Amino acid sequence: MRVAVGCDHGGFPLKQELLQHLAQRGMDVLDVGCFSTQSVDYPDIAEKATDAIRTGQADRAILICGTGIGMSIAANKVPGIRAALGSDPYSARMAREHNNAQVLCLGARVLGPSLAMEIVDAYLDAEHAGGRHAARVEKIMGIEGKYCEGGKHPCQKS
Ligand code: RB5
Repeated sequence: MRVAVGCDHGGFPLKQELLQHLAQRGMDVLDVGCFSTQSVDYPDIAEKATDAIRTGQADRAILICGTGIGMSIAANKVPGIRAALGSDPYSARMAREHNNAQVLCLGARVLGPSLAMEIVDAYLDAEHAGGRHAARVEKIMGIEGKYCEGGKHPCQKS
C-alpha cells in the first residue's frame, strides 16, 4: 500500500513524526509537502495528495494541518474523495470500515503525537467492510453525482 502524506506549516512537525512512524511500519510513502514551517495554503497540499489518489500514485493519503478541518474540507471537494477527520482510533477505524475513506486528516494543534500515531495505525490497519456500508458509500457518491454532468459521478461503477 502506498500512502501519500501532506501537511501545511501547522502540520509540518507532526508530519516529520508521521514519516518516521510510517518508515518503521515499512510503508511506501509519497511525500507531497510542505517541507518546512514556512506558511503555505492547505488547499494546495490537499489537492496534491488527492491527485495522487485519483491518478493511482497512492492508495491512501494522510493530511495534517492545525486542526485537520481545512484539509478535510478541501480534500472532500475533490470528486470521488472521502476524507475523514481522525479524532480517535475508533473513529479512524470506522472511517475505513464504514465510510471507505481514502484520506485521513489530522489536527497537529489538537492531537499529541502518540495519539496521532494510534489514530494512523487504526486507520491503516482497517479495511472497508462492504455490504450495507458499501451501499451507503454508493449513496454518498450518488449525492456528488447529482451535481456532475449527466447526473452521474464518473467514479460510480453502475
Ligand atoms: C493555518 O494557520 C491553519 O488555518 C491550518 O493549519 C488549519 O488549521 C486549517 O484548517
